[in-house]
Amino acid sequence: MSDDRAPEDRRRERAFRPVPPWAGPATRAVHAGTLRDRNAGSIVPPIYQTSTFQYPAPFSEARDAGEVHLYSRNDNPTVDGAAETLRDLEGAEAAALFGSGMGAIASTVLSLVRPGDELVALTDVYGGTTDLLARFARPFGVKVTELSDLEARSPEAHLPRATRLVLLETPTNPCLRVHDLARWAQAADRVGAILAVDNTFATPINQRPLEHGADLVLYSATKYLGGHSDLLGGAVVGPARLLRRIDPKRVLGTPLDPFAAFLLQRSLRTLPLRVERANESGRVVAEALARHPAVAAVHYPGNGSPEEEAIAARQMRGRGGVLGLVLRGGRAAVERFLHHLTIVQVASSLGGVESLASVPVDTSHRHLRGDELTRRGIDTGLVRLALGLEETEDLLRDLREALEATGPSGQGPS
Ligand SMILES: Cc1ncc(COP(=O)(O)O)c(C=O)c1O
Repeated sequence: MSDDRAPEDRRRERAFRPVPPWAGPATRAVHAGTLRDRNAGSIVPPIYQTSTFQYPAPFSEARDAGEVHLYSRNDNPTVDGAAETLRDLEGAEAAALFGSGMGAIASTVLSLVRPGDELVALTDVYGGTTDLLARFARPFGVKVTELSDLEARSPEAHLPRATRLVLLETPTNPCLRVHDLARWAQAADRVGAILAVDNTFATPINQRPLEHGADLVLYSATKYLGGHSDLLGGAVVGPARLLRRIDPKRVLGTPLDPFAAFLLQRSLRTLPLRVERANESGRVVAEALARHPAVAAVHYPGNGSPEEEAIAARQMRGRGGVLGLVLRGGRAAVERFLHHLTIVQVASSLGGVESLASVPVDTSHRHLRGDELTRRGIDTGLVRLALGLEETEDLLRDLREALEATGPSGQGPS
């Protein structure tokens, strides 16, 4: 009987325990990407902590069949396993893992654009992405256009004809603005550009951009996917034809190492549960603090405008646990607030089990000047909160007590 499955599907079936097609996300997170351990039947796949592999001679036949590993910078079974779990959760054809989120974004940009091409991004994105475009895309002859939030509301009017790559982030970092994935996909399609969406804040549990027409999904796996603030990683997920173009041999030197891949896969097993908890705490805290007199505004996915609320309701299953608090009293109020937090720790990241507070003007966006911060809507009174897995009531109490210390007008306790 002939086997007409794609070689990639056959390889996957040989390497991993199958998950029934009817299984839901929580089941898939627990089981997908589990290597078959033919030696010991280990439930948790072993860590292949090796840089290289014995290979059979003659080699070319086995290599062409995708049956051998050669060198861990290119591929490694532990890394393949974690990539497979993420690929499955995203419902994509392929996934590749990198040493950090920036490794994934840089590899995508440098692999997909050439001098003379146009690249479109948002002004309100992770600061490292802005920095990458300024330091490595523009100087290499790529024309970079950064769209303001207002321009990003009508992408079809703002994508130049020669656009090859569009970098979108939704929800955005740090202002949590929500953009219409389907509308962006249509606009990118019209000019023949690849739409890559940084889905770090949403994760595949809250939002699956490929289902709305995006071509690629990018992640900092350091955040929710890793989930415990103990690893650095990045990912690109999408169709095999594009993944084959994105530095398959990691010549840019950004592979994920096997131990980090082991930790990442361990963490992906609990991603649906963790995200569910983050969604709940995010919703409760955003609602409660919006009414607090020391808070001028709360940035939370969907609360930018009724239009954004409608987009979020359409494309997101949950809104996540990251929110921005704009404190009355600016910088001085921020310092008092941070000083009085007891459970929430002051550190720059998100998506871990512990809640963190960070100040974008000091951390992710510290390289931007005053007018650039204003253009991006980043206020000096902005604190980004990344809620962890503590009791929601405890977080609320901690945040309220710290807000009391800033006083009702942000000028200190009254
Ligand atoms: C939305 C987003 N994308 C990408 C990155 C970069 O990821 P990494 O720190 O893993 O390189 C970050 C980091 O904060 C981020 O928040």
